[in-house]
Amino acid sequence: MCGIFAYLNYLNVKDRKTIIDILISGLSRLEYRGYDSAGLAVDGDNETEVILFKQVGKVAALKKLVSEQKVDFEKEFVNHCSMAHTRWATHGQPSMTNSHPHRSDPKNEFTVVHNGIITNYKELKTLLENKGYRFESDTDTEVVAKFAKYLYDTRNPNQNLSFTALVKDVVKKLEGAFALIFKSVHYPHEMVATRRGSPLLVGVKTAKKLKVDFVDVEFGSDEKIPESGGGLLSPNDAVPKLRHSQSRTFLSEDGLPQPIEYFLASDPSAVVEHTKRVLYLEDDDIAHISEGELHIHRLRSDDGRSAIRSIQTLELELAKIMKGSFDHFMQKEIFEQPESVVNTMRGRVNFDNHKVTLGGLKAYLATIRRCRRIVFCACGTSYHSCIATRAIFEELTEIPVSVELASDFLDRKTPIFRDDVCVFVSQSGETADTILALRYCLERGALCLGITNTVGSTISRETHCGVHINAGPEIGVASTKAYTSQFIALVMMSIQLSEDRTSMTQRRNEIIDELKKLPEYIKQVLNMDKELQELAKNDLNKEKSLLIMGRGFQNATCLEGALKIKEVSYMHSEGILAGELKHGPLALIDSDMPVILIMTKDSLYPKVQSALQQVTARKGKPIIICNEGDDGIEVQYVKIRVPQTVDCLQGILTIIPLQLLSYHLAVLRGIDVDFPRNLAKSVSIG
Ligand code: F6R
Repeated sequence: MCGIFAYLNYLNVKDRKTIIDILISGLSRLEYRGYDSAGLAVDGDNETEVILFKQVGKVAALKKLVSEQKVDFEKEFVNHCSMAHTRWATHGQPSMTNSHPHRSDPKNEFTVVHNGIITNYKELKTLLENKGYRFESDTDTEVVAKFAKYLYDTRNPNQNLSFTALVKDVVKKLEGAFALIFKSVHYPHEMVATRRGSPLLVGVKTAKKLKVDFVDVEFGSDEKIPESGGGLLSPNDAVPKLRHSQSRTFLSEDGLPQPIEYFLASDPSAVVEHTKRVLYLEDDDIAHISEGELHIHRLRSDDGRSAIRSIQTLELELAKIMKGSFDHFMQKEIFEQPESVVNTMRGRVNFDNHKVTLGGLKAYLATIRRCRRIVFCACGTSYHSCIATRAIFEELTEIPVSVELASDFLDRKTPIFRDDVCVFVSQSGETADTILALRYCLERGALCLGITNTVGSTISRETHCGVHINAGPEIGVASTKAYTSQFIALVMMSIQLSEDRTSMTQRRNEIIDELKKLPEYIKQVLNMDKELQELAKNDLNKEKSLLIMGRGFQNATCLEGALKIKEVSYMHSEGILAGELKHGPLALIDSDMPVILIMTKDSLYPKVQSALQQVTARKGKPIIICNEGDDGIEVQYVKIRVPQTVDCLQGILTIIPLQLLSYHLAVLRGIDVDFPRNLAKSVSIG
């Protein structure tokens, strides 16, 4: 995820400093979407000059950099278009050159900010390289700026190519998900924005009330309104039925043109301090702003979709906007999992030929396959993702895997050798114990891999190679979507490592087929939210303790579920390996002890059935997490049914009801869900 922002002022004198301040403040609001680097573009001292500022790190670092530049901050602009970006790296490390805005050429003829992924950028890049274009970044976005310049330079000189028409031609060649904003020295004071799959909205601010609101202005077919935007049309013009364009005159109620400002942003949090009036762009909308007018076109005028977008008034507070329709970040992040797991797999899993390619590991595959053992090392939830995937790792690769809690690993001064491969898993990439364990292993000559959600973090910088899980920023202190994405990243890694083992082909194919179905399955589990809320309220809220039991692939779910319950609801909870029941924990069971038993259909099902009998014999009444269609469990038990998938991925579906239960328990108990007491998101002190 990245954040994009643009600010445009018309008939509205603003000096460069004010414009930059507005951009910086917009970016700060979007920083939660990504914060490894930031950049902005403003006009130079004449119309054919655009100045770019970029900096690695947070928006504050960009602000500092800009303030140190020798530019005329007092220069005033009557009309001006500016753009900005805060980045969460997907293609290429966080660096100055990889930061946005990206440009077509050293003269900045076209500049672009982008949120999303252009999946066919390699083909476009090759095409442009063959035409002599030289690229300065590793990003997918740079091809967009260069492609715009290429189309501009090769346009028919006898035709007046509008900015909108040019951007349409660019966008028609793009595949993937994107929100894009274009600026060009060839079209001064104009800006074009478009989206497909990534959010983008337009905020509108006028000092006086507009004579007619956007929704009222319906006119024209494409023939009547030139794509370049045409002149001002009176709202009173006779209007044939609306087709593809929408516009308005910016006449105030007194009939005079008036100053107007526009804001383009990934979400309303960046806009709401300026205006509450926004319109949301839809996929394949091409929004063109010029001379104070906004025109919305459709990418393909024959798609039968209206281009009318009504202005909405934001009623929400800032924090609420960032959380979208959710009450808390934790809840939002739980519900983001159908998309975050896709982002983890995007561009890496080929479902047709059953192949996984993790680019970051490619050069190291042979070394990893030759190693004596793999050591997973992590803390908390990240540690649980290692537990969850150890068995499939060992099964597919036949390399012994040990799983270490970073603090204990260091306490024991665990022996590590040059032919060990150590994998450090961390959402933040900044957890002190995990970093210390990493440095310990580096000193002993082991190959060190990082699995993190934070490009540019200490762990991603200091490891030899690794995988970014691309789950998007996680704000709630309790880790949720990062767990499922770490889980998938580790499974993908085991698949890639075992590629040379033909005996495992069928098993790999089976897992890859199920990876494809995961987003749908996750949605089905999320649909049980109401049911789980009721269960939390009626069956668990008054309890003091909760035991969560299972075995095999579900052991990790028990540990992670118990951690979630503890940290956000403050209820004591323990994850218990069902095979260990008889060795102690069974003593806790009586009719008053709440128990959740995970009993999914895998090879250990009969053994978990026996655990159920042991608990029932002690008058325990477990709530059972089982698979849909499993009719073998007696009616007396409360059941939470999740779709059945391949054994090694089932833990992704069984953890989600526990994430939801912990969330609802926390809300019922009036706890500050996103910031539970005594905890921090990133434990950067050991
Ligand atoms: C629990 C949780 C923590 C973290 C742990 C490691 O919900 O978030 O247990 O998992 O502090 O953090 P990272 O993954 O950033 O290294």
